[in-house]
Amino acid sequence: MFNLKKYLGEKQAIINRMLDEIITNDSSGLSSRIVSAMNYSTTAGGKRLRPILCISACEVVGGKMEKCLKTACAIEMIHTYSLIHDDLPAMDNDDLRRGKPTCHIAFDEATAILTGDALLTLGFQVLSRNNSDLSKEDVVKRLDIIHRIAVAAGYKGMIAGQMLDILSEGKKLELEELKQLHLAKTGALIETSIYSGAVLGGGNELQIAKLLEYGHNIGLAFQVTDDILNIEGDSDFMGKAVGTDHDRDKSTYPALIGLSASKQFAATLIESAVKTLEMFDKEAEPLRAIARYVIERKK
Ligand code: IPE
Ligand code: IPE
Ligand code: MG
Ligand code: MG
Repeated sequence: MFNLKKYLGEKQAIINRMLDEIITNDSSGLSSRIVSAMNYSTTAGGKRLRPILCISACEVVGGKMEKCLKTACAIEMIHTYSLIHDDLPAMDNDDLRRGKPTCHIAFDEATAILTGDALLTLGFQVLSRNNSDLSKEDVVKRLDIIHRIAVAAGYKGMIAGQMLDILSEGKKLELEELKQLHLAKTGALIETSIYSGAVLGGGNELQIAKLLEYGHNIGLAFQVTDDILNIEGDSDFMGKAVGTDHDRDKSTYPALIGLSASKQFAATLIESAVKTLEMFDKEAEPLRAIARYVIERKK
């Protein structure tokens, strides 16, 4: 039987080591405060779901993890930046993240803004690194991925979603609008993590198309579950506050359709996600197990 816990633990350790290497290497006398804050937020203990998905997608198409490890870490840096900014007083105004005081509480607001900026730009610095041994084909793939990640994190992706999320506080959205919000703020980066791994791993067109569909479904299910956990979750275990969506009158799935319909919806999305993996055999066990974990997780 496939052991997801062991799998996640092993991948997390590899990702953590590489993140540590990248951010430590980036330190210099000039930037010691910003490097401390970058380390503080990246090493705070996230699940590393996006980089793990990137690696799993690379491996499911037969690629070696080394092909995508730095890309996976760059995506995690971009994700961590988004959390630091998401927690700022002007956004969700949260004090707790990944079990520790949020970056602006541990440091200060200016440092948190700059730390987010630094992680975002470092992510793209890592993505655009130049290796002398890159083939022309590798360069084309790399450029494509940089572009896709920029779009997913940008004004038509995550930023669009974050803007809508703020604008929709105190409003009742149509279900379709809420779906677009969630796909943008959370789904886009998750989907692109998988896409990046699949491309770097050498996936063919059909494999990539199927994995994109898988990513689309688990990305949406992930945010629906985040909404559910904000009501039912345990704050200590999750390392972040609960009940806050209600307090801020956020537009969420449970607020719009109720808890039970939200769970049902997320389960349907995961069923579809698992179905899209039909063309793969045993090698897709990690992706199948991660899909189920997306809705069963308690943090
Ligand atoms: C939280 O993401 C923010 C959302 C997009 C829902 P995660 O639940 O992946 O947070 P970490 O990385 O594990 O802290
Ligand atoms: C966070 O969404 C999405 C991004 C950071 C892009 P939420 O605000 O719903 O996530 P949590 O609950 O604070 O982790
Ligand atoms: Mg938010
Ligand atoms: Mg938030």
